[in-house]
Amino acid sequence: MAGNILKASNSTPARQRRVLVTGVTRGLGRAMVDEFIRLGHVLIGCGRNAKVIGELKTSFGAPHRFDAVDVADDAAVQAWALEVIESHGVPDLLLNNAALINRNAALWRVPAAEFDAVIDVNIKGVANVIRHFVPAMVKAKRGIIVNFSSGWGRATDAEVAPYCATKWAIEGLSRALAQELPPGMAAVPLNPGIIDTEMLRGAFGDAAGSYPTAQQWVKQAVPFLLGIGPKDNGRPLTVG
Ligand SMILES: NC(=O)c1ccc[n+]([C@@H]2O[C@H](COP(=O)([O-])OP(=O)(O)OC[C@H]3O[C@@H](n4cnc5c(N)ncnc54)[C@H](OP(=O)(O)O)[C@@H]3O)[C@@H](O)[C@H]2O)c1
Repeated sequence: MAGNILKASNSTPARQRRVLVTGVTRGLGRAMVDEFIRLGHVLIGCGRNAKVIGELKTSFGAPHRFDAVDVADDAAVQAWALEVIESHGVPDLLLNNAALINRNAALWRVPAAEFDAVIDVNIKGVANVIRHFVPAMVKAKRGIIVNFSSGWGRATDAEVAPYCATKWAIEGLSRALAQELPPGMAAVPLNPGIIDTEMLRGAFGDAAGSYPTAQQWVKQAVPFLLGIGPKDNGRPLTVG
C-alpha cells in the first residue's frame, strides 16, 4: 500500500494520515483531494454526484476511496462509516466540508424546503458524520475533527440568514463537542476564508472572481489542516 502512495505522490509525508473529506465533488473538497493525495496521504471522500465520484474512483485507486453518499441521510452515513472503518480503520483527520448555501433572499422569502435543505446538510449532515465516525476515534483516543464554518459563522449579512444560522450552529456544536473528547483529540470550527467556488458564485456572483481559486487555497489550507492538533481543541480557527 505504501508503495502505491509513494509512487503517486511528489513527496513523502512525515506521517501519512487517513483523511476523510465530505463534499469532494467540487470546490474546496475537490481541490483538497488533489493536494492531500499529492502530499502522500490516504483520501476517503464522499459527495452526492455519482458521476464525479465515479471519475474520482477512476483517477485515484486504492488505497483512496470515494463513495456517493448524501451526508443528510443518517442511514447512508452509518453504512458508509461501517464500511470505511472496516476497510481503512479510524480516520486521523475528519473534515466536515460538505455544505449548501441558500439562494440570496430575505429570510421571509426563503421557501421552507430550501431552508430545510440547508439545515439538513450543514447541521444534521455534520452531526450524522460525527455520530458514525467519532465513536471509533474516541475508542482509539486519537483523531482531529474539523467542521467547516465560515466568516458567516462569526458575522452576518443580509440574504444569507439560513446559511448564517447553520454556520453559527457549527461554531457552537464544534466547541461543545471539543468538551466531550478525551485528551489527545480535537474538534474545531474552521473558517476557510473566501474562495472562488460554485458556492461563492451563488452568493457573490461574478465578484467571486476576485478571490483565490480552490487550487490556490489548498496550498495554504492543507498544511494548515495537517498542523491542527490536540492543542487546538475547541479553538475557532481561520485559514490564512
Ligand atoms: N467558498 C467559500 O468562500 C467559503 C467560505 C466560507 C465557508 N465555506 C465552506 O467551505 C465548505 C466548502 O465550500 P465550497 O465553496 O467548496 O462549496 P461548493 O463548491 O458548493 O461544494 C460543496 C460540496 O459539498 C457537497 N455536498 C453538498 N451537499 C452534500 C450532501 N448532502 N452530501 C454530501 N456532499 C454534499 C457538494 O457535492 P454534491 O453536490 O456532489 O453532493 C460539493 O462537493 C462549505 O462548508 C462552505 O460552507 C466556503
